[in-house]
Amino acid sequence: GAPVTVNLNTIAPGTMLTVEWQGKPVWILHRTQEMIEGLKGNDPYLADPLSDRPGFTPAFAKNIDRSRKPEWFVCVGICTHLGCSPSPRFAVGSVAGMPTEWEGGFLCPCHGSHFDLAGRVFKNQPAPDNLEVPPYYFIDDNNIMVG
Ligand code: FES
Repeated sequence: GAPVTVNLNTIAPGTMLTVEWQGKPVWILHRTQEMIEGLKGNDPYLADPLSDRPGFTPAFAKNIDRSRKPEWFVCVGICTHLGCSPSPRFAVGSVAGMPTEWEGGFLCPCHGSHFDLAGRVFKNQPAPDNLEVPPYYFIDDNNIMVG
């Protein structure tokens, strides 16, 4: 599939845009400072906090925020369990039954897997792995190329 160029100017902080790349939904989330800070306490609750497992995280995204720039999170929006598309849940406390340490993130509607705002899966979820970070790069400060 062809690479996809995405202009970041229209994505307000705290919101995300979904684009299609290779027939898959790709999320571009503009993380706020609060969202970035919220990632730091999650490690003890995550299945693969450092994204060590092969196949889901390119080398450039093997960091706590799993991205090239902390404020921009780019991710394939397909659950690593059976392929449903998780939904954003950015408000803390917005989902009944979530672990108290869940600072918001993504929730898969099919079997309830919880991910944080870096697409990292929590322990003991149906989904075994973190969401996939696709190849992408910054063309300039306001545009990225996915693919
Ligand atoms: Fe996402 Fe099963 S497909 S939890």
